[in-house]
Amino acid sequence: MKQPINGAEQYIMEKGQGAPVILLHGFPLDHRMWQAQADALSEHYRVITPDLRGMGQSDVPAANISMEHYADDILAMMDKMGIQKAALGGFSMGGYIAFALLRKAPERFTALLLANTRPEADGPEGRKNRMNMAVSLYDKGAGAARDAMLPKLLTEQTVQDQPGLVEDLSAVMASMPAEGLVHASLAMAFRADSVDLLGSISVPTLVIAGEQDPVAPPDVMKKMADAIRGASFHAIPAASHLTPMEKPEAFNALLLEFLQSVTA
Ligand code: MLT
Repeated sequence: MKQPINGAEQYIMEKGQGAPVILLHGFPLDHRMWQAQADALSEHYRVITPDLRGMGQSDVPAANISMEHYADDILAMMDKMGIQKAALGGFSMGGYIAFALLRKAPERFTALLLANTRPEADGPEGRKNRMNMAVSLYDKGAGAARDAMLPKLLTEQTVQDQPGLVEDLSAVMASMPAEGLVHASLAMAFRADSVDLLGSISVPTLVIAGEQDPVAPPDVMKKMADAIRGASFHAIPAASHLTPMEKPEAFNALLLEFLQSVTA
């Protein structure tokens, strides 16, 4: 369904009933990356997977946007849906937004999943790459982000074994509004560093990495997990960056066990 949120039409996918679980997608993707999790979790939970502003079917921002703006959209969505508290999960860029949400409104979240994400802000080189990506997106369209990201999302083995998955992913990424991705690239370039936040996180936290992830490598994610009180850390074998889609069974087993331990 589409909902007017903070002055923009935003697409929200909802499945199942029970305690709410909000899952935030990565770049350059949309709610469809969570399909396997929505299917598995919705037997027990109300799974909510929005399209972030400017991605998927949500309106492209009218002005420049930051992680804090995306977080404001999620809080407004929760208000609109009558959700006072929820379990929160973020994949990669969705994790950066989860950090912004925990800075803004920690009392609204009961549990945290951080998947294939990292707490550090970009350095000068990283920011330069994002700005070059923004230019390529303007020049060439959404295919520029697809071409840059596709080789990082899946292991070579998965690419060989699952041509259908590669094709579907490629189509999802190519369908993104290029201007929305420009906004996302620049928002990531100038996002706040969240390393200092980690010690203040007080909700149960699950950290999931991919053993072969070049974007959020497992050693970086292990260090992040160690800085969060009581967090549990798992690195999924034979997985690259996009663990929720590449290894859905392993991912869902970890997530379901975690959610059940939190809501028990
Ligand atoms: C993502 O998967 O959301 C991106 O790889 C995040 C990033 O580029 O930092």
